[in-house]
Amino acid sequence: MNRRELMSWFSLGWVASFLPVAMAACSPTEKAESDSQNSGKNTSNSSPDGFASVGTVSQLEEKGEILNREFAGGAVLVIGNPDDPAMVKAVNPTCTHDGCTVKWHPRDKKYICPCHDAEYSADGQVLQGPAKEPLSTYAVKIAGDSVLVKSF
Ligand code: FES
Repeated sequence: MNRRELMSWFSLGWVASFLPVAMAACSPTEKAESDSQNSGKNTSNSSPDGFASVGTVSQLEEKGEILNREFAGGAVLVIGNPDDPAMVKAVNPTCTHDGCTVKWHPRDKKYICPCHDAEYSADGQVLQGPAKEPLSTYAVKIAGDSVLVKSF
């Protein structure tokens, strides 16, 4: 075996030994890209217009409200509109005074904070302190049996 043949075998062996490593290094990247493309299509429950389901109409009718703490935009409390039963309203129930979760009182038509008694209207406006800022609100709509919410 002359020097040229020896170098050819050495080069071929070098390529052969790195080929599996190169293939393994490329595979996870391709899979990650594929997974990220699929996750946007298959695992999101938000619609193209940005609304996402936070519960069902059946749940809303049964309990009078839907509290969903898993919504991407923050906690959501959906209630039936006290002035129009065919409509719904959605707020972030986190009290703007010190972060407690407000509760909806349908008979009084207002949210009341259990910590320091701040009160808010159905639209989230402050009726009584110590809170000074209104509750955050969401766009909300009904589609079939789903209650859909979207951050502004
Ligand atoms: Fe709600 Fe203080 S945290 S009134």
